[in-house]
This record gives sequence, C-alpha cells and structure tokens, in this order.
Amino acid sequence: MKFPRLEDVDVAGKTVLVRTDLNVPMQGGKVTNNNRIVRLLPTLNYLIKKKCRIVLLSHFDRPKGKFVPSMSLAPLVDALSEAMDGKEIQFGVDCIGPAASDAVAKLKPGEIVLLENLRFHAEEESGDAHFARELASLGDVFINDAFSASHRAHASITGLASFLPVAAGRLMEEELSSIYGIFSTAKKPITAIVGGSKVSTKLELLESLVGRVDNLVIGGAMANTFLLAQGHNVGKSLVEANMKATAKRVLEMAKKKNCNIVLPVDVVVGEPGLSGQGNACVSIEHIPHGMMVLDIGNATLRNIGVCLRESKTVIWNGPMGLFETRPFDVSTIMIAREISTLTAGGTIKSIAGGGDTVAALAIAGLGETFSYLSTAGGAFLEYLEGKTLPGITMLIEAKNGTGKIKVHA
Ligand code: 3PG
Repeated sequence: MKFPRLEDVDVAGKTVLVRTDLNVPMQGGKVTNNNRIVRLLPTLNYLIKKKCRIVLLSHFDRPKGKFVPSMSLAPLVDALSEAMDGKEIQFGVDCIGPAASDAVAKLKPGEIVLLENLRFHAEEESGDAHFARELASLGDVFINDAFSASHRAHASITGLASFLPVAAGRLMEEELSSIYGIFSTAKKPITAIVGGSKVSTKLELLESLVGRVDNLVIGGAMANTFLLAQGHNVGKSLVEANMKATAKRVLEMAKKKNCNIVLPVDVVVGEPGLSGQGNACVSIEHIPHGMMVLDIGNATLRNIGVCLRESKTVIWNGPMGLFETRPFDVSTIMIAREISTLTAGGTIKSIAGGGDTVAALAIAGLGETFSYLSTAGGAFLEYLEGKTLPGITMLIEAKNGTGKIKVHA
C-alpha cells in the first residue's frame, strides 16, 4: 500500500500537528494501560531529532461537543512525560483559539504541547471544514498517527489534510503494513477467533470473515445466540433471541464458502449474579435452566487448540468468556498462551486487536508475544469487516495525488 511516510514530507524545523489517539484506559485520573502512548514514541523521537515544534491533537472519550472536566486530556501530560523519560510536555487548555495559538507560539524546537480534547468542540465529529482550517492554522505539516481513530471522518482525521501536507506517522505505518497485509500476504490456513457479547455488533465481521478464512471460532456470549439458533437451551445466558435467524444465515453462508465454524461443544456455567459458587463445565446439551454460560469449556478449548496448531495465520478479536471476572478468564488466557507458544515457535503469524482483547492479553502478560498487536479497537474491526477507513483513504489519496493536499497558505 502506498502512502506518504514521515520521510516524504519536509518537517525539519517546522511546526508539526500530530493526530494521536490518547483515548487510553484511565481510572481515578491515572492511565491504566499506556500502550497507545508508548507506541507513539518513534514518531515523536523522529520529530524531536528534526527540531520540530510538536503539537499533539487527540480526542478522549465521547464528550459530545461539550467541556466535560473528567474527559480532559490534562492528566495525559504526566503519562506522556513519564513515557519520555521525564521530558517536559506543555498543555494548551483548548485545541483552537488564542489558548491553542499562544501555547503553540511558546514552543521551542524539539518541544511538545498537548492540546485539550478535540471532541470538546462538536465541529470535530461533524468534520467541520472551518474547524479543520483553524486547527491547520496552528502548524505547517499534518502527521496522522492515529490508525485507531481513522475509521472516523472527523475534522482532525480527514479535514486537516485539505490544508496541510500530510504523512503517516511511524505507528500508522506499522499498523498499515501489519494489518493491511493480513489477507493479502497471509499463509493459509487462516483461523479467525471472534468473541464478545453480541452478534448484532459483530455481524458484518462474521459475514466478512466466512468468505476469507478457513476456520472461524465463535466464542463469548455471542456464541450463545448460535447455540440457541441450533436448538440448544442456553438457560439464563446473555443471548440475542432476535438474532437467531441471522446466526443461522451465517452458518449457511459458511457452509457454502467452505469455512469451518467452530462453536462451543461444552461451556462453563455459573449462577446469575456471579457468586462463583456452583460453577460447572457442562456439555451444550445440558445447560441448566437457571444458569448462565460464562466461558467455553475444556473440550471446546481442545478443539480450538487443534485448529490453531493446523493454522499458519491467526486473527483474534474478542474474549471467549467473561474474562474480567475470575475464573471465567481461563479460556481466553489459555488460547492467548497457545497462540503465543505457536508464534514463538514460528509456526504461525498472529495478530490481535480490539479493546477487550488487548486488555485480556495485558492481564495475561502476553501482549508482547503476538506477531502484531494493534492499538485499534473499532478501526481494527472495520478493517476486518472489509470497510474503507476515511483516514486511510485520505493518506492513500495524498500519495496518489488525487486528494486536495495543498501546502498551508
Ligand atoms: C478507540 O478507542 O477505539 C478510538 O479512540 C475511537 O474512539 P471512538 O469509538 O469514541 O470514536
């Protein structure tokens, strides 16, 4: 895939706007997982070396166009500084207007300012051209290093490129070469593992994958809907009864396309309320009426293990059980371990993405052991669904000269 990289734009000594995704998990004002911050460092270090004045733009959460104090990016200053060995990071209390331009004007070469949450302005999400122009007026060059937000046609993702020369940052480059290569260069057999709670939110993903992978493992609560569609009783489990017909359609489609669907043959059940008492592994024919399915069972794990060992490429999105609550994290961790071992042994290439999946891997301490771990949640999903991501189209068109890329006047 061709798109402009950092080396393709003249950044030396310039003021560079870097769109990042600092929408990181936080608790009590502290960052609980700094993966997205650390992965940004190669771009920042390159720009520092080039004596750029660096302006970081990001959204955080979904404030819906209003100032929401708990969604301020201010706490990210310390997290960024910590990741950069104590480097001082300035903060601008707004991303446009005098507060932003004053903060940028104070920068010296090699210094960094983080501007306040873009989504405090409704114009960010509506992709407003005037807002994009105001942002653009703060710098000379635009670097998109936010693959994980590039499924949004927001002002700071697509709009800025109408006013400034544009290039992908290092993280964007890494995401694109790893993720976009999955289907074009992947060795077969390919196994996709899809978990999560709802068929309705992953339907497009399932439909897209059955035509592209050899094995599709379905776990998490959404497997319950498939079991229900096959006529099994699922007790008090989380289920989308209105998606039964859809689940059947996915199964039929898979048959036609020669995709082997791997569904649970046994499950771990527990009492509603998760007391942890009375958990049992039962066959799918014997799910008790008053109980909930909370994880996949041992026989299912063995079936998945066979699939993984026969595969050359594994793609994973979504946990297999209620991984946030022990002991229902067992299957997710076991599968993560199996994939890690096979990856380390060189028999498979593995790629995982999605907020819950990455969180589960972090809990298991296995994040580093996959061939590639995407920083993206929704964007990873949309790519796997075969969708075009507006932020990526913008980059590709910039390279091809078909976009409206103009040097900032
Ligand atoms: C993410 O965390 O997936 C991105 O930051 C996008 O966030 P959004 O779904 O609120 O647009």
